[in-house]
Amino acid sequence: MKFDILTSNPAQTTVDCLVVGVHDSGALSPLGVAVDRKSGGALMRFLAHGDFAGRLGETLLLPAFRGLKCSRVLLVGQGKLEVSRRGWRKALTSAVAALAKTRVRSAAIALTRPATRELDDYLYTRSAVEAASAALYRVNDLKSGKKAPPPALEAIKLAGVRATSAAAARRGIVHGLASANGAKLMRDLANLPGNVCTPTYLAEQAVALAGRHDRIKVRVLDEAEIRAEKMGCFLAVTRGSDEPPKFIVIEYKAPRAARAPVVLVGKGITFDTGGISLKDPGAMDEMKFDMSGAATVIGMMSVVAELGLNLNVVGLVPTCENMPSGRAIKPGDIVTSAAGLTVEILNTDAEGRLILCDALHYSRRYKPQAVIDIATLTGACVIALGHHHTGVMTNDDQLAAELVESGVRADDRAWQMPLTDEYGEQLRSNFADMANVAGRDGGAITAAAFLGKFTEGLRWAHMDIAGSTYVGGAAKGSTGRPVALLSDFLLRRASR
Ligand code: BES
Ligand code: MN
Ligand code: ZN
Repeated sequence: MKFDILTSNPAQTTVDCLVVGVHDSGALSPLGVAVDRKSGGALMRFLAHGDFAGRLGETLLLPAFRGLKCSRVLLVGQGKLEVSRRGWRKALTSAVAALAKTRVRSAAIALTRPATRELDDYLYTRSAVEAASAALYRVNDLKSGKKAPPPALEAIKLAGVRATSAAAARRGIVHGLASANGAKLMRDLANLPGNVCTPTYLAEQAVALAGRHDRIKVRVLDEAEIRAEKMGCFLAVTRGSDEPPKFIVIEYKAPRAARAPVVLVGKGITFDTGGISLKDPGAMDEMKFDMSGAATVIGMMSVVAELGLNLNVVGLVPTCENMPSGRAIKPGDIVTSAAGLTVEILNTDAEGRLILCDALHYSRRYKPQAVIDIATLTGACVIALGHHHTGVMTNDDQLAAELVESGVRADDRAWQMPLTDEYGEQLRSNFADMANVAGRDGGAITAAAFLGKFTEGLRWAHMDIAGSTYVGGAAKGSTGRPVALLSDFLLRRASR
């Protein structure tokens, strides 16, 4: 998709379709007013019939009016006059979804924008590119029937940019495209079934990414090399599986910056049965999404390389399956982590923290400016925050504040949960340095507290994406979160 900005009156531009916002009061978007004027008031005369109520997200495709250079007009309901960030995104998403069903090839978007203090011209174009690209995403299904033809839409012009901020708005488009491509890469990986997207497959995708970008180097550690790194916790999780585990190291070297890297660590459980502490069968298929952290990291490495970001970034992906078998770890087993701490595994379903603790330890060799792990770590996080916010837990409140703010800017929100010492104390074991679980209460935080025991002295944040990264039900699939949030975060780190 080609995106461009439009600083002039959209009614003067030659496109197949003009997309005009209509509020439930009957008022047009500001740019819609300009379009109406060009049409000699025909748009308002049509609305006066009362056929289109302007409810948020509803759309109506009309033939063009005399005086306009387009062949169609798409009316898009925007609800209240006061346009929120969410409402705007919903209207834009509906508009693009509606356009994708037509033969329209080029469109100019003239919706009412949220207030500039919420969404300046840079963020306007960046978010619009991200939202429009997400709306055009087609799930990579493995259905055998004929695929629907791809949408005809190939160019979108974003109207309403002030000429004085054209440069910032163009930058927003470039950044938005990189972020959108990363999110698509992530979603494609996360949506694949566990029998296709194995640890080996993830490693191949990382190698392929390095093949596309000169600044990316990939190293894949096999089981023997993982053993040489003494990653006893990671090895404990993979024991029950016949699929070989991989530890994927993806390094991006910035063109100029010599500064310490940001390290991203992604949980890569390609299927989580729970192991001997077997999960209930209901919705167990969704545990194919348990590598969404890994998919996020691979997606982010693509974002960073595509932007040529001036910041060193390292992606670490421990990846394996969590399976029951005669060889699998059992409740009560004690293993030794790469950091030397011993862990009593009381519940084999708390496997994410076991692969992450060894990966977090591995990150120390980079002397990173910050380490962020991204993981579908706990059902408890979904109970706490639902599907709307990613959970953030940290030993560095400044880092958490940055992540939360990036979540607001990217409309990919996160919420900090407390991580005080009491939670770590709940992990006490009679037989080892710590247990891998601490009961149900505060489960999202005790999981983070476990990781916290391996990140002392690092500036570290943990993102629990169990609720935000995929949806179940009829629209089951990966959401691409938190690629937009992390893109904003890394862009800001690169420019400071
Ligand atoms: N992958 C799951 C967490 C999860 C649950 C993600 C639901 C998405 C939706 C994780 O490995 C897990 O099983 N966690 C356990 C931890 C418990 C045994 C302490 C959980 O949340 O039940
Ligand atoms: Mn589990
Ligand atoms: Zn898991």
